[in-house]
Amino acid sequence: MPPTEAEVAALHQHASEAARNSYSPYSHFRVGAAVLLQADQRQDGAIVAGANVENGSYRLTCCAEQAAIASAVTLYGPQIRIRAIAIVNLNGVACMPCGACRQTILEFSTPETAVFYPSATGETVTTTLAALLPAAFRLTP
Ligand code: THU
Repeated sequence: MPPTEAEVAALHQHASEAARNSYSPYSHFRVGAAVLLQADQRQDGAIVAGANVENGSYRLTCCAEQAAIASAVTLYGPQIRIRAIAIVNLNGVACMPCGACRQTILEFSTPETAVFYPSATGETVTTTLAALLPAAFRLTP
């Protein structure tokens, strides 16, 4: 089910609040992400946010999307499904999810999962995970 306008507004609010806690002393790029979960027995459509957390050993940096998803699993369990995800930054620039984050989102999503991110011109782009990650890798046992 696509998110309602109110849910999209709440996602952006949570993502912006998380971005204020960004730990980004190296890039100074303050990112926040928030996931809207499909309601299940454990939660009623919760929103969980995360910020990017950088490291002096640069490649250990955790993106905001990955932080949000790790928190969602920690809080609500491995069965979570993501209905929608919003990514924002406090730098006022475009901020689409990186390739690694697209693959991380995929793990807990459907092809219809809605993705919102700021374009270079400042508008919010609304798309789906399938559009952002066609021919995605899936491990089939
Ligand atoms: N970053 C994210 O948080 N999400 C993305 O999808 C792309 C990049 C962060 C990682 C790093 O802290 C900073 O942005 C610059 O790459």
